[in-house]
Amino acid sequence: MSYENIEVRIEAEKVGIVTLNRPKALNALNDALMTELGQALKDFDADPAIGCIILTGSERAFAAGADIAAMAKYSFQDVYKGEYITRNWETIRQIRKPVIAAVSGFALGGGCELAMMCDFIIAADNAKFGQPEIKIGVIPGAGGTQRLPRAVGKSKAMDMALTARMMDATEAERAGLVSRIVPYEKLAEEALGAALTIASFSQIAVMAAKESVNRAFESGLSDGVMFERRLFHALFATADQKEGMDAFLTKRTPDFRHQ
Ligand code: HXC
Repeated sequence: MSYENIEVRIEAEKVGIVTLNRPKALNALNDALMTELGQALKDFDADPAIGCIILTGSERAFAAGADIAAMAKYSFQDVYKGEYITRNWETIRQIRKPVIAAVSGFALGGGCELAMMCDFIIAADNAKFGQPEIKIGVIPGAGGTQRLPRAVGKSKAMDMALTARMMDATEAERAGLVSRIVPYEKLAEEALGAALTIASFSQIAVMAAKESVNRAFESGLSDGVMFERRLFHALFATADQKEGMDAFLTKRTPDFRHQ
């Protein structure tokens, strides 16, 4: 499949990489890009060879937000009916394999929200995160007011949403928004290393781990722990559990068949 707003490739036959590619607009997220992104993610999710997905942008921008030029003319009716902007933003939440955001440069507005929809964020040292929508008369519209406080706490989330200030990579890591920072030159390598590690494990266990961590944001502790326990129990029905434990005990590398 050929795309106009993203580039798609596979590394080592097991990691799917999606690169946002609207450089002249700092990867501003328009409907066409989001539709292509959703399709590419769904294709990787459905490909049994792919064990992990990386979403990235350019050195200057992961994405500077939803496309303001496209949005400026929309009416309430346009956006409420769901034909524009938000209609194709939910796809990423349906992806069951891990998605790593490799963020360099600006991740603002919808760009920050898109990164937060991924399972974790690896940031280059030049990354800048922000929810500056207030400056253009709106508020975050793809989960920024919900995911940011869960990631960095109320005070910083309010600060960012109300003052529009950007957080640099160091502050973002300290606050828990990103999991690792690396020099820009090492970003692709670091993300690929993490993705290859994940892809080397049992896909079923990986999907279960993702599902269970995500459950922490949707339920109380007792329900979440019970959900985790039942998934843990269920993994004893997989061949990969037998293989993984036998490989440990016989001191060999496991050969996971994702069964
Ligand atoms: C459309 C954008 C854009 C955006 C940048 N550009 N961000 N176009 N939508 N979100 C374009 C600029 O118009 C410019 O085009 C080119 O990219 C380079 O940007 P500059 O502003 O010249 O670069 P610079 O001075 O380095 O400033 C970078 C920046 C600034 C700080 C990132 O561009 C900026 O503030 N952008 C807007 C950020 C923002 O408000 N994002 C939130 C959007 S609302 P030309 O043609 O002039 O060269 C949102 C809601 C999400 O995201 C809702 C989701 C459902």
